[in-house]
Amino acid sequence: MKVISVVGTRPQLVKLGAVAAAFDGTPHEHRIIHTGQHYDAGLSDVFFSGLGIPAPDHHLGIGSGSHGVQTGTMLAALDPVFERERPDWVLVYGDTNSTLAAAVSAAKMHLPVAHLEAGLRSFNRSMPEEHNRVLTDHCADLLLAPTREAMGHLAGEGLRKRSELVGDVMVDVCLSTRDRVLSAGIRPSLPEGIDPDRPYVLATLHRAENTDDPGRLRSIVSALAASDVPVALLAHPRLVDRCERYGIDLTAGALRPGEPLPYRDLVAAVLASRGVVTDSGGLQKEAYLLETPCTTVRTETEWVETLEGGWNVLIPEPADHDAAEWRELLARTVPGTDRGEPYGDGKAAHRVVDRLAEVRP
Ligand code: UD1
Repeated sequence: MKVISVVGTRPQLVKLGAVAAAFDGTPHEHRIIHTGQHYDAGLSDVFFSGLGIPAPDHHLGIGSGSHGVQTGTMLAALDPVFERERPDWVLVYGDTNSTLAAAVSAAKMHLPVAHLEAGLRSFNRSMPEEHNRVLTDHCADLLLAPTREAMGHLAGEGLRKRSELVGDVMVDVCLSTRDRVLSAGIRPSLPEGIDPDRPYVLATLHRAENTDDPGRLRSIVSALAASDVPVALLAHPRLVDRCERYGIDLTAGALRPGEPLPYRDLVAAVLASRGVVTDSGGLQKEAYLLETPCTTVRTETEWVETLEGGWNVLIPEPADHDAAEWRELLARTVPGTDRGEPYGDGKAAHRVVDRLAEVRP
């Protein structure tokens, strides 16, 4: 069997880490196309080296652009590569523009499409990711769902027959990285001004809903700046760009900005932190798996399981909370309870390879 994985952004590379490792030592051929949606070394290259992923077989070098330009350029660039490769499966990941472009290009060429992380829904139609995931699910032949909740959404949309519950491949990567960090005693590499042996909060912000609304962005940044412990802010390029544009100071008060971290360092930084503040889907789940309280600045989450027991708390309107409430939120501890394994047992990627081989159209 020949499978082509199409990836382009940082979270897809983390998932690819698990899938590429699961293909290792099998008789199957696994090839990789990188669309180039993320091109900064800190958002792309370090994940290949850090997670031991083989270099991509094809790099499309698409880069940034409006949604239409970015997605359309990818579609045009993928056609000839798929034509040459003619894989048994095109495997697409998550909900980015790279996911949608690969699914549409492959479906139109009558190549079987499998969607990893199928069935997630925010039901927020102003998010580009919501359209990407719904459209991808409906044109894919095999829907590999991470959770029971996702399976329920797929069934509700008439897609039950094409859906398989495999678990979340991010668990595979996160838990094995955690074990390596703990056994090797790896210290977190944090922005200047943060002592890893003293309490700190770890923060990331990159979603358009937050970064592209100046008022909302200003309230989130002020809330973090008023924290009573330093805030390690791992700044996505889009956050830096918007703050410069709107005159928002990323070094105010408790804020200590730094670059995004390679995966192993991110896991070490979450483990050593008092809590996480984010709008990233992946980081909400990583905080949950690493038993660190998370505060999510969004109106909803696709990863609803993280909300149970208060491990993750949603803040739909950051401006509704004053500095004291924010401080209390960021200092909260969560009582340990038996949480089960809502995201699977850390062997999802092997299940993905098995299902692709068994279901092969
Ligand atoms: C994309 C995904 C989002 C995912 C995120 C993970 C879509 C619609 N969004 O968002 O679902 O959560 O990746 O990080 O696909 N930029 C750089 N260097 C880079 C890449 C981007 O500077 O390597 C800047 C550019 O100014 C670009 C902006 O970031 O315009 C946004 O990049 P883009 O790829 O459009 O989306 P992300 O916000 O990264």
